[in-house]
Formats: sequence, structure tokens, C-alpha cells
Amino acid sequence: MSQAKTRAGVTALGAYAPAKIVTNQDLEAMLDTSDEWITSRTGIKRRHLAADDEFTSDLAFRAVEDLLARHGDDALAGVDMVILATNTPDALFPSTAALVQDKFKLSAGAFDLLAACPGWLYAVGIARGLVESGQCKRVLAIGAEALTKIIDWNDRSTAVLFGDGAGAVIIEAVPEQYGIKSVIMGADGSGADQLHKRAVAPCLPSGTPLSETLYMNGREVYKFAVRVMDTATIEALEKAGLTVDDISLFVPHQANLRIIEAARERLGLTRERVVVTVDEYGNNSTASIPLALRDAVADGRVNVGDNLLLVSFGAGLTWASSVLTWGPA
Ligand code: ACO
Repeated sequence: MSQAKTRAGVTALGAYAPAKIVTNQDLEAMLDTSDEWITSRTGIKRRHLAADDEFTSDLAFRAVEDLLARHGDDALAGVDMVILATNTPDALFPSTAALVQDKFKLSAGAFDLLAACPGWLYAVGIARGLVESGQCKRVLAIGAEALTKIIDWNDRSTAVLFGDGAGAVIIEAVPEQYGIKSVIMGADGSGADQLHKRAVAPCLPSGTPLSETLYMNGREVYKFAVRVMDTATIEALEKAGLTVDDISLFVPHQANLRIIEAARERLGLTRERVVVTVDEYGNNSTASIPLALRDAVADGRVNVGDNLLLVSFGAGLTWASSVLTWGPA
């Protein structure tokens, strides 16, 4: 008897945004900025910030706890790999993924993945490969970010943009009509100077000194983002053998409403078919897509059989995109 065909898919999802909220009005009191500037340039109204004693591991734990609350205590059974995408690991080593492994007593390998904002989509792509090759049965893929810990709070050009959060999914075999139909992962390291934060070396190979806090050339990243959101979404659709008409919901990286709107218009999608959470959370990097997806699911906007189009961009420069069909659960 032949076995039913399967592919890797998402079977459980959880997310977390810290309780502390900072509004644009709060920032007006701290910086030479205004609600009007932030709203019109970015679409951001509020952002959620990790508490002083809350770090990336804590946010990841909360996202996994949310996944357990939504999907039951057995949701982590048999997880044999933890991939945690982040720009703000608790430590360079051990990996924050290993802290998650220990917290939930998983019999699993664990590693952190560094690919800037698209890191969680990279994790989905790697998890897909591990599952479809038979290397792993169930992968816990997390995006978790305490980004506001590495911001210069005196720099109005970056301080208003970012927030913290985490999202987690389980990826395992599902019937082949569901699951991950394509993943695109790209990088252009010639753009390394545009967005950086120092870890060990004092400068990039180009000689550019690395910044002690998050440095971003906003205008250049903006141009790159608009270009790559277009090319990466088209590539993901083509690889999945689908067209934009097949897409129920577009879940882009939540960095800037103008970037999302430009992508929406290029794709020819109505606003109802786009998930926007940047107003509430700001840009929380690797957490942004799983958190947006969790909210869309909670709002009843995602149904079994829906095709979702995901796309992200960030430091590196890097980008990633994916088409996945929701279900079967
Ligand atoms: N409040 C008021 N004025 C400000 C602020 C602020 N918070 N920030 C900058 N300004 C001023 C600037 O000083 C500048 O003034 P000037 O014209 O007198 O010099 C003016 O506003 C315009 O600045 P720009 O940088 O040109 O503004 P722009 O319209 O490009 O918007 C922004 C800036 C929002 C950062 C935009 O460039 C952007 O969104 N870029 C992409 C960022 C992004 O998506 N990053 C994601 C990757 S992050 C990651 O991977 C971790």
C-alpha cells in the first residue's frame, strides 16, 4: 500500500507581545518627534517593550506557552529540533534556542539563526528541509526579539521604529495539499553597511566601523525593501506554481506601513487581504510575521485551505518569502 504524500507544514502557532506599551505621545515627551511624523512616515502608533528584566529567552518562553495554551499540552511532544531566529540573543553562546530546549525539557537539538528580520522565515525554510528530508520529525521554529535593548533611545531616526515580541510555530509533515509550497531565501552582503550592530569585530570588511547600537540608513533600506518585497513575493508565487489571485492573505514583515502599502499595490491586493499590525507593535523583526499571523488567526482571518503569502527583509541585507497553505487543523 502506498503512503499518502506529505510535505512540511505549520501545525501549531503561538506568540507574545510584552505588556509594556510605549505610545507615540510617550515618545514626544522623550525626543524631538511627533505623533504626526511617526504616523505619517511609518504607520506606527504604539510598540510593546520588554521589561528591564525581560530578555529574548523570556519572550520566546511566553510565545511557546501561548502555543501550548492554544494547542494543548501535547503540542511539543516529539519536537526534535529548536531553531530560534533572533538579532538579540541573550548571549552569543549558549544559544537562546538551547535555553528554550531546557525550559520545556525537549529531547531536541537547538541552534540560533542569525538572518536579521527574515530570520524566522529562514527558520521555516530550514525546518521544511529538515522535515522533508526525514532528518527531523517536528521542528519548533521561533522568532524572538528584545530589539529595544540595542536601540539608542536618543536617536529619533531609529528609536521610534522598533518593538519587542516573539512567535513560535511547529513544523511537521502534513497532507501534501497543505503546507509550505515555497520558500525563497536571499542575501546581498554588499549592503552590510546600511544596517548593523557590533558584536565582536570593530568594523566590517569594508572598513565601516560597527555601531554599538542599532544603526540604519533608513532611506537606503526603504528603497531596498520596496524593491525586494516585489521581487521576492513574485518569486515565491512562481515557485509555488500559484498566482496572486490564489492568495487569501498577505502577511508581510511589519516594518513600515508605506512599504506594506507599496507591496500591496504592486501585487494588486485589496486592503482586506493584507495583515497590518505595525500600528500596534512597531517593527519587532523576527517576531513580526508569526505575531501578525497569530493575530490574524485569532481574528478569524485565516481558514483551512487558505494560501498565505509571507515576505520579509532586513540587515545583511537579506530577504525571504514563502507561500503556505493553512491546515489541516
Ligand atoms: N521624528 C521627527 N523627525 C524625524 C524623525 C522622527 N522620529 N526621524 C527622522 N526625522 C527627520 C530627519 O531628521 C529628516 O529631517 P531633515 O529632512 O531635516 O534632514 C526628515 O525627518 C526625513 O528623514 P528621512 O530619513 O528621509 O525620512 P523617511 O521618510 O525616509 O522615513 C524611515 C524614515 C521611517 C526610517 C524610513 O526611511 C524607513 O522606514 N526605512 C526603512 C526602515 C526599515 O524598514 N527597516 C527594517 C529593517 S530593520 C532590521 O532588520 C532590524
